[in-house]
Amino acid sequence: MQIQIAPSILSADFVNLERDLKAISNADMVHVDVMDHHFVPNLTLGEPIVKRICEVTDLPVDVHLMIEDPDRWAPEFAKLGAASVTFHMGATHAPVRLARQLRASGVKACFAVRPAESIDGILDILDEFDMILIMTVEPGFGGQKFLDNQMNKTRRLRDEITRRGLHTHIQVDGGVSSSTAPIVAQAGADVLVAGSAVYGAEDPAKAIDDIRTKAQA
Ligand code: DX5
Ligand code: ZN
Repeated sequence: MQIQIAPSILSADFVNLERDLKAISNADMVHVDVMDHHFVPNLTLGEPIVKRICEVTDLPVDVHLMIEDPDRWAPEFAKLGAASVTFHMGATHAPVRLARQLRASGVKACFAVRPAESIDGILDILDEFDMILIMTVEPGFGGQKFLDNQMNKTRRLRDEITRRGLHTHIQVDGGVSSSTAPIVAQAGADVLVAGSAVYGAEDPAKAIDDIRTKAQA
């Protein structure tokens, strides 16, 4: 399986974003965490900054919405030039309607589950999504410890995707580093988000290559 690395700019320097985006040009996409102080106890950035990120980077922009009421706001983010928009199971009221709306506006629709949430509810609507995000930490902050108890869920989802012949990507987010990359890849994840492991490294581009190599080993 082709592994894709998505560095999270949550651990970048927010006043030197353009510089920090250039530092990850060997990544497959850039992961942008949008937080609203309500769905998660942290606040990051909104539409104007996402729009500028889309303008200055050549990488596909993967927007991870950790916000209340994505049914209202996700379509707005889809207009900014992002490649994919992820919203959370615990925040949406109408995931199928929202996924269809996102796809109709030309972005990939992605659905996220927190550690305590089951993928049971997703299986019946799997074909509505391009990617499922399995959180391997409680969303809100970078630098937390990887939850390996999310790997059963990941394996089960990969088996189901394979059994049905779907092309749905599985993304994992939280605590991914060169040491946890082999675990998530083996469980069936193919899009690896890494924040502190990339931007906390002296050489972010090398950190990306290391994570990719370990995941593919
Ligand atoms: C956390 C965010 C992550 C975060 C991951 O809620 O969704 O994308 O940046 O950070 P690390 O890789 O440091 O766990
Ligand atoms: Zn994220």
